[in-house]
Amino acid sequence: MSDRPYLRLGGVGDVETFQSHLRELGISIPCDRDLIAGDASPLAQPLQLDDLNLGNRFAIQPMEGWDGTSDGEPTDLTFRRWGRFGASGAKLIWGGEAVAVSHDGRANPHQLFINRRADVYLARLRETLVAEHRQAVGSVAGLVIGLQLTHSGRYSQPNVHGRPEPRILYHHPILDRRLGIPHDHPLLSDEEIRQIIEDFQRAARLAHEAGFDFVDIKHCHGYLGHEFLSAHTRGGDYGGSFENRTRFLREVVAAIRGIAPTLTLGVRLSAFDTIPFRPDPERSVPGKPGPGVPESLKSLLPYRWGFGVNPANPLEPDLTEPVQFLSLLEDLGIKLVNFSAGSPYYNPHVQRPALYPPSDGYQSPEEPLLGVARQMQVTRTLKQQFPNLIIVGSAYTYLQDFLPYVAQAAVREGWVDCVGLGRMALAYPRLPLDVINGNGMQRKRSCRTFSDCTSAPRAGLPSGCYPLDSYYKQSDEAAQLKQLKRQTPK
Ligand SMILES: Cc1cc2nc3c(=O)[nH]c(=O)nc-3n(C[C@H](O)[C@H](O)[C@H](O)COP(=O)(O)O)c2cc1C
Ligand code: SF4
Repeated sequence: MSDRPYLRLGGVGDVETFQSHLRELGISIPCDRDLIAGDASPLAQPLQLDDLNLGNRFAIQPMEGWDGTSDGEPTDLTFRRWGRFGASGAKLIWGGEAVAVSHDGRANPHQLFINRRADVYLARLRETLVAEHRQAVGSVAGLVIGLQLTHSGRYSQPNVHGRPEPRILYHHPILDRRLGIPHDHPLLSDEEIRQIIEDFQRAARLAHEAGFDFVDIKHCHGYLGHEFLSAHTRGGDYGGSFENRTRFLREVVAAIRGIAPTLTLGVRLSAFDTIPFRPDPERSVPGKPGPGVPESLKSLLPYRWGFGVNPANPLEPDLTEPVQFLSLLEDLGIKLVNFSAGSPYYNPHVQRPALYPPSDGYQSPEEPLLGVARQMQVTRTLKQQFPNLIIVGSAYTYLQDFLPYVAQAAVREGWVDCVGLGRMALAYPRLPLDVINGNGMQRKRSCRTFSDCTSAPRAGLPSGCYPLDSYYKQSDEAAQLKQLKRQTPK
């Protein structure tokens, strides 16, 4: 970690100062000096995707709330979140949140899953979002809504908070140790994988019937779809060669096309990764973990447990296989792709750059703007190679007050097609409407990357923006979270 504290962007007064800060750090992030309002804004431009017409360039990223019932149904809080996503004015809703295709594929005991009543609740979630969008924007023209489908694999925890029930494809020398997975823990069998493919098929059918425009076959963040891509050491039909490691994707696509041929498909992909990080023990004190350092790689080279990493130096991205994967998506007729990176469990500074770490994390080992720039650069490189794909980019929230300026420049210069909003959409859901309507950014509403929305679920509490959303600020859970934060770093 740098000895110099990272600049707090909340204290940077204007875009010129932000631009010169980027220059000083040698960080290449495009950033416009003025925002363009209304129809002329690059962010207001429509985009055609086959039969779907996207009304503008803002996307809301999928974000779970850890607030479903134990039976996998949405609660009032879930409906509230989907309503706020709808009222944002963003025309692309990427999945709402990760919905597990089966009970045992849930990442937590409050995650939504495709239960027996999923047809009803999926339709109600969608209708809530559409109604709020109509009220806020005046029209639902150009609104495209997807559902993110997932199986949590290694991170399954379906029944009890704090009791992992991992479903793994291979033994991982670092993650098994971290997750307490014994060496004889059974691997998912090829037969069990085929059952999961059927679960994806059923989930997609229900989403289609509930009126969703597309489903995302999730391949990111260390969950099952992503783990397939790094299953180099697995034998059988689903591991080893690139062809085998992508068989799951191909079979899910074929299964869905068999029952819902007109349903659009998308994929959210961790386009690159790095190895797991942990707090530096040398620089940690009780209650304050040190900066993140990579786990030891002794005897693990060439590294055979990653996707989108250089096997000779897995701290470096290698886009060779991600490029192959995108060619495969094109061959499969999948044009909608959302890039993320890494995993919130084992390298959160890569996936969601933040000034304040989550309770199970570490201090950022790098200037968080470098994390934003890394995702933006990889997205740009891949967009250049695949101009026909519609690409959504991630990790913009750390830009805070300067997010709209960077978003406008990135879309205008063709780095990305749509700008995805994650944490910012929890803190300040109306940002897209404010920017497109020419109202500018309400700075006091900007996410400051306090990470409470990640720390709360780690403690078994619902996720939400505790510092800025009045609902969570005043909730009983806020006091519990405060208690938790006393034991964790500032
Ligand atoms: C509380 C929370 C829940 C999330 N849940 C999901 C999820 O269900 N599916 C997913 O693909 N990403 C999920 N993410 C990751 C975000 O979609 C996004 O990639 C990440 O926050 C970085 O974008 P940002 O900088 O705009 O926040 C979640 C992030 C947060 C903060
Ligand atoms: S809790 Fe709110 S301010 Fe903190 S990171 Fe999450 S959205 Fe941002």
